[in-house]
Amino acid sequence: EQQRNWDGLPMCKYQGFWCPIFILRPLLSFQRNFKARDSDIVLASVPKSGTTWLKALLFSIVNRNNFPIDQSPLLTTNSHKLVFSLECFCYTKHDNPDLENVPQPRLFSTHLPLQVLANSLINSKCKIVYICRNPLDQFVSERHFLLKKQRDKPYGEMLPLEEAFELFCNGVHAFGPFCDHLLGYWNASLENPDKVLFLKYEDLKRDPLSDVKKIAEFVGLPFSEEEEKAGLVGEISKLCSFDKLRDLEVNKTGVHAGTVKNKFFYRKGDVGDWVNHLTPEMAERMKEVLEAKLTGSGLVLDI
Ligand code: A3P
Repeated sequence: EQQRNWDGLPMCKYQGFWCPIFILRPLLSFQRNFKARDSDIVLASVPKSGTTWLKALLFSIVNRNNFPIDQSPLLTTNSHKLVFSLECFCYTKHDNPDLENVPQPRLFSTHLPLQVLANSLINSKCKIVYICRNPLDQFVSERHFLLKKQRDKPYGEMLPLEEAFELFCNGVHAFGPFCDHLLGYWNASLENPDKVLFLKYEDLKRDPLSDVKKIAEFVGLPFSEEEEKAGLVGEISKLCSFDKLRDLEVNKTGVHAGTVKNKFFYRKGDVGDWVNHLTPEMAERMKEVLEAKLTGSGLVLDI
């Protein structure tokens, strides 16, 4: 089954999800060749759910004894260069990339749904940190992102907002359907809370300190009393805050993976920006979708 994403990007249905065609080969190589270590940490998300932010937080939490905050590599390097995407970076150029020398614990990211992750990743003790976001905000963010990218390297005509939204509600978008993506990781987090930590963008925004502590505990690196007293949790959240990262020279000017400008990863960073772009009817339509898909799962999204 084939489809085009809202920006014309060709996608095929693979093991239940909409796989951008260019991801298929890297995905197969990843499934075949990835050898997880128990110490690995993999950050998973639907695109535009807060991946860049979580990368910065995770990197800072894990490396907090390696660099003082004011010398953090985040100040000079884009988050995506510090935490590699498995299918969009590691396996794009090589079928069997050398990942032996990635600093320990190795941090990776993925937009792939749980059901297609390499067996080795599922069967090892490595940890998965998942972030989800209110799908209305995520849709708006994705659309802005595609519109900006579109100007540099168009796949085709961008669909009008209403059409793209309807496709989105029907699960037709890169790495979608989003409800299935969310539920895969949500259910895994209920079944095996030591393996999967499920976070929400909105919670992180409301109370970053508590999620930073939660992430640190989950990955086995809880903050000590002295660290807490010294205000390290707050310093990490401040370093990774939207305003701080957006205004760094590297994120204003640099380019990621040869094509995407770093600044495209920092737009507004707000909760509820969808009201400025979508109608109340569209929100109602989304609520129906969520009710049909999520009822009974225990997962409630803040929309
Ligand atoms: P908006 O377009 O709504 O502003 P991803 O990193 O998964 O691609 O998601 C990008 C979204 O996260 C964008 O949302 C971006 O602005 C927002 N974002 C990036 N860095 C952030 C940060 N440090 N804090 C909060 N939001 C951030």
